[in-house]
Amino acid sequence: MLLKDKVAIITGCNSEIGMGWAAAIKCAEQGADVVVCDYRTDQLDQLTARIDALGHRAIWLRADISDQAQVERVVDKAIETFGHIDVLINNAGIASDNGPFLECSEEMLDRNIAVNFKGAWYFCQAVIPHMRKQGGGAIVNNASLNATRPVAGWAPYTTSKMALIGMSKSIAYEFGVDNIRSNCIAPGPIRTELGLGGSRRVAEELDIPFDEAVKLAEHANVLGRWGSPGEAADLMVYLASDMASFVTGSTIDVGGGFVAGL
Ligand SMILES: NC(=O)c1ccc[n+]([C@@H]2O[C@H](COP(=O)([O-])OP(=O)(O)OC[C@H]3O[C@@H](n4cnc5c(N)ncnc54)[C@H](O)[C@@H]3O)[C@@H](O)[C@H]2O)c1
Repeated sequence: MLLKDKVAIITGCNSEIGMGWAAAIKCAEQGADVVVCDYRTDQLDQLTARIDALGHRAIWLRADISDQAQVERVVDKAIETFGHIDVLINNAGIASDNGPFLECSEEMLDRNIAVNFKGAWYFCQAVIPHMRKQGGGAIVNNASLNATRPVAGWAPYTTSKMALIGMSKSIAYEFGVDNIRSNCIAPGPIRTELGLGGSRRVAEELDIPFDEAVKLAEHANVLGRWGSPGEAADLMVYLASDMASFVTGSTIDVGGGFVAGL
């Protein structure tokens, strides 16, 4: 078991076909107790019940991660319930509020920064003091191949995810001495609500059927298919575990050999 007796906080878990859900199940399968949160909560009873059935403890909390006070409440509750936090997976994100660069309003930029970047920033600031006291921990941030290999029409998203990578590297540098590791995963097209939402937008922009837009993503990587949430979650679990004990400050692609983007 890679995460035996660890406690993990995972954000953005309310979708059964999402990466956060898959990460929560996989962390529990590897021995962790889990705190899950999201600003939508209708599926979270079901998720925590699944984790209970695996023999591990799980609690869910409602939180809009763009609000620092709500983030701090999640971390306080995690400590109150479990006494320690060993793993933080900053997974929640949005891909809405994007468009051609000159048409992007300040509000669109702010929304992407607030959720995709500042939400993770708030969590790191709240969790790191606990990890420091405990003698270490692992942070995994869900960035995107869209950060490192941008395409047109996604500047707010790309900018927010690139900021996330910058934060992750800064934390790795500053807290290596405290045995805290910080890494990013950079997924390519993963078949989730958010991923398929991207295809919906492509279909509208190119005026093509949705199915055709879904297929376009398959041509953007050398394996010729979408990835599954579990394939991305496996990388999160690896980075969260002692298997990755000498890996920090890294951004690792999970994109089937993505060939699109700059
Ligand atoms: N699917 C892809 O192709 C892809 C590719 C690269 C990166 N990503 C990143 O992966 C992460 C997970 O996305 P996913 O694809 O599994 O989709 P998803 O829609 O299942 O996950 C996003 C989750 O974040 C939650 N969320 C959004 N705003 C929030 C907020 N303000 N507070 C709390 N929770 C909030 C949503 O409710 C949702 O459950 C995101 O950060 C996304 O940017 C996705």
